[in-house]
Amino acid sequence: MNQTRRKRRSDPPLSRLDSLSPEMPFPSSKSPSLISPRVRNIFLLLIFCSIIFTLFTYCTFRRDQISSIARSLPLFSTQRRHLLFSIAASRDSWLRRSSYVRLWYSPNSTRAVVFLDRGGGLDPDPDPTLPPAVVSQDVSRFPYTFPGGLRSAIRVARVVKETVDRGDNKDVRWFVFGDDDTVFFVDNLVTVLSKYDHRKWWYVGSNSEFYDQNVRYSFDMAFGGGGFAISASLGKVLAKVLDSCLMRYAHMYGSDSRIFSCLAELGVALTHEPGFHQIDVRGNLFGLLCAHPLAPLVSLHHLDAVDPFFPKTNRTESVARLIGAASLDSARILQQSVCYDSSNIVTVSVVWGYAVQVYEGNKLLPDLLTLQKTFSTWRRGSGVRSNYMFSTREYPRDPCARPLVFFLDSVRSDETDGTWSSYKLHNVGNCHRAEAVKRLQWIRVMSRKLKLNVEQMNPPRRQCCDISSPYNTSMVINIRQCMPDELIAMNT
Ligand SMILES: *[C@@H]1O[C@H](CO)[C@@H](O)[C@H](O)[C@H]1NC(C)=O
Ligand SMILES: *[C@@H]1O[C@H](CO)[C@@H](O)[C@H](O)[C@H]1NC(C)=O
Ligand SMILES: *[C@@H]1O[C@H](CO)[C@@H](O)[C@H](O)[C@H]1NC(C)=O
Repeated sequence: MNQTRRKRRSDPPLSRLDSLSPEMPFPSSKSPSLISPRVRNIFLLLIFCSIIFTLFTYCTFRRDQISSIARSLPLFSTQRRHLLFSIAASRDSWLRRSSYVRLWYSPNSTRAVVFLDRGGGLDPDPDPTLPPAVVSQDVSRFPYTFPGGLRSAIRVARVVKETVDRGDNKDVRWFVFGDDDTVFFVDNLVTVLSKYDHRKWWYVGSNSEFYDQNVRYSFDMAFGGGGFAISASLGKVLAKVLDSCLMRYAHMYGSDSRIFSCLAELGVALTHEPGFHQIDVRGNLFGLLCAHPLAPLVSLHHLDAVDPFFPKTNRTESVARLIGAASLDSARILQQSVCYDSSNIVTVSVVWGYAVQVYEGNKLLPDLLTLQKTFSTWRRGSGVRSNYMFSTREYPRDPCARPLVFFLDSVRSDETDGTWSSYKLHNVGNCHRAEAVKRLQWIRVMSRKLKLNVEQMNPPRRQCCDISSPYNTSMVINIRQCMPDELIAMNT
C-alpha cells in the first residue's frame, strides 16, 4: 500500500501523459499488478474528470431546467386519446343537454362515457354523435344525511370508481369528470394536463367564481361542474378506497365534496388550473368571457343559467360558435390582447374568438383586465353580496357609456397557419361617438395559430397587437408576440 503511494508520487507529472506511446498494451483486469503506473494515472484522471463534469453539469442545470426538459420528453406528450371523460347525467337532463356534449365530443378522437341514473327507454340504437351511455350502479346502501340535499350526489361521486372499474382504461393517463352541462375545450385540456406527470398523483381543477360558494364548500375543492382531472395512478387508488369515504361523508351536500374529502384523506391537494370554469354566476357572461385568465380555456358550465353568449343566437348555437373558433386556434380562444391607436386616442381590447371592445380614450391595461360586472350572483336573495374571486368593475347601465362592442361573426384560416377572425358591431342605438370610430362596423383580426408548449405556459405572456391606421368602417388588427421589453400602453 505504502509502496504504491510512494511509487505514484514518483510518476511523471500529469501534463506529460500525452507523451504516452500509443502502442502501449491495454492492461488486463485480471492482472492488476501488471498495470503500468502511467496507464493507471490515465484511468484516475478520467475518473476524476468525469466526477468533475457530472458535478459541473448538475450545478449549472438548475433543477427546474432539468424538470422542464423532462416534461418536454415524448413520455409526457399527452394526446386526446389519453383522456377518458366521464359525464354525469340523469335520464331527464340528458335528453336536453346532450346537445351541449355533442358540440365538444368527437366520436373519432374523444373517449367518453355518460352515466345515467336509470335506463328505461334508452335508445337501443345509440346516437353515434354522442358518447355511449351506461346506467350507474345502485347506491341505496350508502347513507345521505344532508338536509334537503340530493342523494344523487353519491351516485355521481361513484362515477369516479365505476369509470376506473369498467376496465376500459388502456392508455388512459387522465380521468376527467364533468356534468352534462359542462362544455370542454378538449385540446386545451390536453395542453394543460401535459404539464403534469400522469404517473404521479394529480388532482387538477378549479373552485367557484363565487366567494360564498367557496366559503360554504371549500376553497381547495375542484367544483364538479367545472370539471376536474385525476391522473390515472391516483384514479386507481381512489377507486379502491372511495366506498369507505362515502360512508364517512354522508353529511356532505355534493359529489365533488365527497371526492375532495376522500382525496384529502389520501393526502392529495388540488392543483388549481384557472381554465376550468364552474360558472357560479347568472345572466350575461360577457364581462367574464372578456377577461379570461392568461391560461387556456378548459371548460364552461351552467350553460342553462346564463344567457346565450352572442346576440340573436340560442345557447347551443353560442357554444357552437365558440367551439368553432377554437377548432381553428384552440389555445387562443378568449385570450385578450389590448392595443392602442395613439393618433386617435383609441384603446381596443380583442378577446379572440369572442368579442372586440373599442374604447374612446386611453385606457390603462390593468383596468381592462378586470371583469365588467355584467352578470348577477349565483345565489339570489336580499342578503347575498356579490363577492367574487376576481377583481371586478362596474358595467355602465347606459349602453352609450360602454365601449363599442363587436361580436365574432366568422373565422377562417389559411394554409400558413394565419387566421382571420371578423367581429361585427353590436348596435345599441344612437350614441354619440368620436369621429374616428363612429363609422366602424367591422373589426378584422389577423393572428397566427398559437402553439403552446409547456415552456410557453410556464409562465405565459400576453400577446401584443397593432391597429392598422387609418380606418373608416372596418379596422384591421394584427396580433403578434410582444418584443422582449415592449409595454402594453399608449405611446411607448
Ligand atoms: C370518423 O371515422 C369514421 C369511420 O372511420 C369516418 O367515416 C369519419 O369520416 C371520421 N370523421 C372524422 C371527423 O374524422
Ligand atoms: C338553437 O338553434 C338551432 C339552429 O337554429 C336549432 O336547430 C336548435 O333547435 C335551437 N335550440 C334550442 C334549444 O332552441
Ligand atoms: C368612410 O366610409 C363611408 C361609408 O362607406 C364613406 O362614405 C366615406 O367616404 C369614407 N371616408 C373615408 C375618409 O374614406
